[in-house]
Amino acid sequence: MRLFTIDENKCTRCNFCAIDCPTQVIQSAAKETVPVEIVGASESCIDCGHCVAICPTGAFSLESMIKSECSEIDKKNLPGDEHMAAFLKSRRSVRRFKDKKLSHGELSDLIEVARHAPTGSNKQKVEWTVFEESEKVNKFASLVVDWTKSLAGKIPDEKTAATMAKIGNSWDRGNDSILHGSPHLILVHAQENLPSAEADCVIAMTYLELYAASRGLGTCWAGFLNAAANSYGPLLNELNLPEGHKCFGAVMIGYPKYQYKLIPERKKANINWR
Ligand SMILES: Cc1cc2nc3c(=O)[nH]c(=O)nc-3n(C[C@H](O)[C@H](O)[C@H](O)COP(=O)(O)O)c2cc1C
Repeated sequence: MRLFTIDENKCTRCNFCAIDCPTQVIQSAAKETVPVEIVGASESCIDCGHCVAICPTGAFSLESMIKSECSEIDKKNLPGDEHMAAFLKSRRSVRRFKDKKLSHGELSDLIEVARHAPTGSNKQKVEWTVFEESEKVNKFASLVVDWTKSLAGKIPDEKTAATMAKIGNSWDRGNDSILHGSPHLILVHAQENLPSAEADCVIAMTYLELYAASRGLGTCWAGFLNAAANSYGPLLNELNLPEGHKCFGAVMIGYPKYQYKLIPERKKANINWR
């Protein structure tokens, strides 16, 4: 089967498709011809769709990607650099949530955007598990607390041991310092042995987190839960991730109870200019 077809009447022989192809499977147009695929192109192509996206006249059709399903980029919908910088610096981890749930559609919308995050070799093997019920989220928090308690006396680092003990004491006094009473929890996971699994998942969750912030939602990474999710049997059983999957990120999500007025200062960037 052919990897792609090019409409000869529309093709301007600009060769942008060949020049931009990351796997170099498109041979530039010769004098009278349009670009053609090299031998073995199908095996090397990573389906990134750059060829379709870059064609200025819509002449390029990739077998695996219907052009009509690709949205056009509307430049006036893109944020300017100042807006982008202000937005990124203003995002905060939110740990106090309103007693209000996100709808199924709102949660799906977030993943719909996050699936556009880059993945190693465009593998797109990131998977999501969304817990919509707060009762379930609360149960996970209690299991993480059990995990911290099970580690008592086994952690050599004093500071970490003290933090773990504090979590348990706090829980016993009625405070959830693990998932902060979040109404929902989103996990991102992938086959552990996939070469870029961790980076793919973390980037995807970062996309989700940023998009959520742009919609006025609050998120916070759940590092303790993520650690327990990959080591504590009772939690592993409850999460029930697909066989061979590792959890690479977890975020609490809900409507923020409070708003921030200032951008807290951060350490100066440590840059080694060479
Ligand atoms: C990988 C990762 C794990 C985190 N885990 C937790 C956590 O378990 N609990 C929590 O309250 N905050 C957690 N955070 C949030 C950080 O504490 C927060 O990003 C940091 O204090 C800076 O605040 P800001 O996100 O508002 O800029 C985590 C953040 C990251 C990136």
